[in-house]
Amino acid sequence: MDLQLQGKHALITGGSKGIGLACARGFLEEGASVTLVARNASTLEAARVSLIASIPSAAARIGVVSADLKDPAAAVTAIDHAEQDFGPVHILVNSAGAARRTPPDELTPQHWRDAMDAKYFTYVNVIDPLIKRMASRGSGVVLNVVGTGGKVATLTHMAGGAANAALMLITAGLAAAYGPRGVRVNAVNPSLTLTERMEEGLEADARLSGITKEEALTRASARMPLGRVATAGEIANAVLFLCSPRASYISGAIVSMDGALTPIVV
Ligand SMILES: NC(=O)c1ccc[n+]([C@@H]2O[C@H](COP(=O)([O-])OP(=O)(O)OC[C@H]3O[C@@H](n4cnc5c(N)ncnc54)[C@H](OP(=O)(O)O)[C@@H]3O)[C@@H](O)[C@H]2O)c1
Repeated sequence: MDLQLQGKHALITGGSKGIGLACARGFLEEGASVTLVARNASTLEAARVSLIASIPSAAARIGVVSADLKDPAAAVTAIDHAEQDFGPVHILVNSAGAARRTPPDELTPQHWRDAMDAKYFTYVNVIDPLIKRMASRGSGVVLNVVGTGGKVATLTHMAGGAANAALMLITAGLAAAYGPRGVRVNAVNPSLTLTERMEEGLEADARLSGITKEEALTRASARMPLGRVATAGEIANAVLFLCSPRASYISGAIVSMDGALTPIVV
């Protein structure tokens, strides 16, 4: 299926690693231009080099901008850079940042606030200015990579889960608010997905349980109905479809990508 993404400009926050990087690869393969935003400039450059190595024809369609998206002014500057390089942003994919996991007894009000800064405001700081630009142009797509921890409380992930729950609420609300001005807003909700961040988590689990990282991954995979965790590319496939004109009547949707781990209806 041609996803009709040729010539589109996608801004991907968290595009230097994991799910964001897999999305960047997918958009480039479909003929779109991408601007990747993250904090670490050398990781961004490494991402650019790896994308060019796998898709040489995409070299002129990759922009990178270093910014800490916890800062709303830095987010606006990043959008300005992106639009100077490749013109109006048609598609925003938010995949930057993740809240730290903390056992319940160790949580303080500062932890809850930090989690909102790390996961909620890194998204809102980009959505707010960009969705208004999209609305003034009469078209655009926003896709939030959220997480199942926003629906099912995990005891070590409550602060981050609260940020995810808030992101789901604004996904639905902004879709209703901006639909009349041509902007669609959706979310995907991954559970365990094999990225560097998950590998760090596996290493921590392994140390705690006195097992190897590989054994920790085997245990995590055994809990999944599909017998394995997701790959970043599998999450990216759903993101690309939802961002494409092929999904033109899908807005306000939260697409569960937990491989049926939590068999609930909504
Ligand atoms: N992997 C999973 O199992 C999983 C499951 C459910 C939900 N998710 C969600 O999916 C999203 C992507 O996860 P991932 O596993 O791909 O993470 P990842 O591999 O750790 O990548 C995170 C990306 O976000 C960037 N980033 C982090 N904080 C930032 C900030 N303040 N400003 C700008 N960029 C920032 C990172 O680059 P810098 O560090 O250089 O800034 C990196 O590019 C996250 O929101 C995560 O919560 C992941």
